[in-house]
Amino acid sequence: MKGPDKMNKHSPIKPPASLLERANEIYDFGAALRGPAADANVDQQPIEKPAAEPETAKAAVAPAIAPVAAPLPVRPATARGKLRAHIDREALRAANYIDPDGPVTGLSEEFRIVKRQLLLAARGGRGFDPIEHGERILICSANPNEGKTFCAVNLALSMATEKDNRVLLVDADFAKPSVLARLGIEGGRGLMDALADSAIDVEDLVIETDVNGLSVLPAGAQTNQDTEYLAAARTAAVLDQLTRHDPARIIIFDSPPALAASPASALALHVGQAVMVVHADVTTDSALRDALSLLSGCENIQLLLNRAKFSPTGRKFGNYYGYGA
Ligand SMILES: Nc1ncnc2c1ncn2[C@@H]1O[C@H](COP(=O)(O)OP(=O)(O)O)[C@@H](O)[C@H]1O
Ligand SMILES: [Mg+2]
Repeated sequence: MKGPDKMNKHSPIKPPASLLERANEIYDFGAALRGPAADANVDQQPIEKPAAEPETAKAAVAPAIAPVAAPLPVRPATARGKLRAHIDREALRAANYIDPDGPVTGLSEEFRIVKRQLLLAARGGRGFDPIEHGERILICSANPNEGKTFCAVNLALSMATEKDNRVLLVDADFAKPSVLARLGIEGGRGLMDALADSAIDVEDLVIETDVNGLSVLPAGAQTNQDTEYLAAARTAAVLDQLTRHDPARIIIFDSPPALAASPASALALHVGQAVMVVHADVTTDSALRDALSLLSGCENIQLLLNRAKFSPTGRKFGNYYGYGA
């Protein structure tokens, strides 16, 4: 029973639900999410993978990853000229993103909570072992314009403030790359170029930014075989190379929409964690189910609620989520 007598220092006061939890309250999928990120929070309602594969999923299922390629060499940082870029803080502020130099805001607090859960799964702690490739996090959604880039960039900015981790933000929405433009960085060769040409060392394409701890990797030139490149053994080798170059790296992928493009399911095979951004009031249950099924190559998927007008738990965050107060 609820009552004022319960709200004293002897009884634990339940903190407001995070965006991850609220997404799961709204989209009631019932069964357990796997992995420590899910277990870390008792309130979190897990996602049930659909028993039968929906029609839309069948058309776009990605091929399995090819056999493992030999490890690629890792050259020391001194052997290469690092690309560097300035991040346009003013543009971030104007678009309601986290300002890396700004004060703590409701938005930065929300992403701090999301970040904690993902880092726990990636690095382990509180009695949990790290999950395999938990340092690779795919930010996906069912459809375009649901907030993938918004969440990927904000999460990367939030994680970059962590002393023990560095963040590599990969623009992996090859058909509609927007990470670099959002940060005010000029594009260049990127991941797809490195996948398509074995003479390219992917580390040479990584751009260091003037936000401490944050670097970015452009999408590169789109090909008509993006999914095949992503499913090939070279992709696993290239991603391993990125981690071996800097084991403190968390790699965040701004994914293509799951229902619009098959590279998303191919990418899901390479990551340890996926975040499915759900646009409150817009993403339908069936679109979400189909999207989750397409990402089934990844065993740890969390829902993240974006653009909610009100919080079911009473906490307001509409004003900094683009809806006005
Ligand atoms: N929570 C939010 N608050 C304010 N603007 C948002 C929010 N989520 C998304 N947007 C804006 O909505 C538009 C679409 O979001 P975006 O992240 O680009 O979607 P996607 O990458 O899924 O296509 C962008 O202009 C983005 O800045
Ligand atoms: Mg985007």
